[in-house]
Amino acid sequence: MLNEKLTLIGAGNMGEALLKGWLDKKLFAPEQITAVETCSTRREAIQHTYRIAAEANVLTAIPKAQIILLAVKPQIMGQVLETIAPVIDNSHLIISIAAGVKIATLQAKLFSHNRIIRVMPNTPALIQSGISAICGAHNLPADDLTTARRIFEAVGQVVEVEEKQMDAVTALSGSGPAYVFLIIEALADAGVSVGLARPLALQLAVQTILGSTKLLIEKNQHPAVLRDMVTSPGGTTIAGLQALEEGGLRAALLAAVQAACKRSRELGQ
Ligand SMILES: NC(=O)c1ccc[n+]([C@@H]2O[C@H](COP(=O)([O-])OP(=O)(O)OC[C@H]3O[C@@H](n4cnc5c(N)ncnc54)[C@H](OP(=O)(O)O)[C@@H]3O)[C@@H](O)[C@H]2O)c1
Repeated sequence: MLNEKLTLIGAGNMGEALLKGWLDKKLFAPEQITAVETCSTRREAIQHTYRIAAEANVLTAIPKAQIILLAVKPQIMGQVLETIAPVIDNSHLIISIAAGVKIATLQAKLFSHNRIIRVMPNTPALIQSGISAICGAHNLPADDLTTARRIFEAVGQVVEVEEKQMDAVTALSGSGPAYVFLIIEALADAGVSVGLARPLALQLAVQTILGSTKLLIEKNQHPAVLRDMVTSPGGTTIAGLQALEEGGLRAALLAAVQAACKRSRELGQ
């Protein structure tokens, strides 16, 4: 359990996923967390479900905590930073999960505060199976990075990256769940096209992705090795793989991640 208190600004989808993970893993007790949320119905629901304090006023919530986690949309981050800047001091560790908002931007608004960490989580955090990439400001105390690691390990894996890699991370693991959902949907369609009922096709597609991923993790081998193991000479799988290569699956995924990375860079300007 961490000793610090935490104020969560923005208890939306990702904010709630984090909150649930922390409480489930007992990283924080409910009394250590205050959520700031502008939407009153959401505020009441969060308070009721998680037994934490939930407030509308960010200015009164900041002095209650040593860790401030910013989980509002990037578009309103500027306004939130301007509001909180006068009450942030060196006792505060600031963690932002806002896509595309650079550490330099946070520092510019927070009077060059150096205890700042930027994180890119992804939606499987909702079921504590996420992966979060973290990077810290120049001169960040080492203890702060350890604290941030623990905060995000409550909802999955954590990797440390350089900030210049954040657009690439956003394009791969941040946007990645959507690519996987599309692939599953397409596989289910494919099953229907060869005569399976849709619910059965979807079940087969979902469990095949899940099982293959678990096998890959458990065997700890390169995916090509496992693929070769199920590809017998002149068999069905090699016929399917040939069609996938001819259809450009590999090239399409490369293009998808490159396009998302470019868009992330544009949004960060
Ligand atoms: N969801 C993801 O997959 C994902 C992945 C990586 C990073 N992120 C980042 O996580 C952040 C949050 O995303 P999300 O999907 O959780 O968004 P979300 O569901 O819209 O959550 C944001 C919450 O903050 C509230 N809010 C707005 N202004 C506020 C203020 N001034 N003070 C306190 N609360 C305020 C919003 O209330 P209203 O609805 O009333 O505005 C909303 O409940 C974003 O910056 C996003 O880039 C999300």
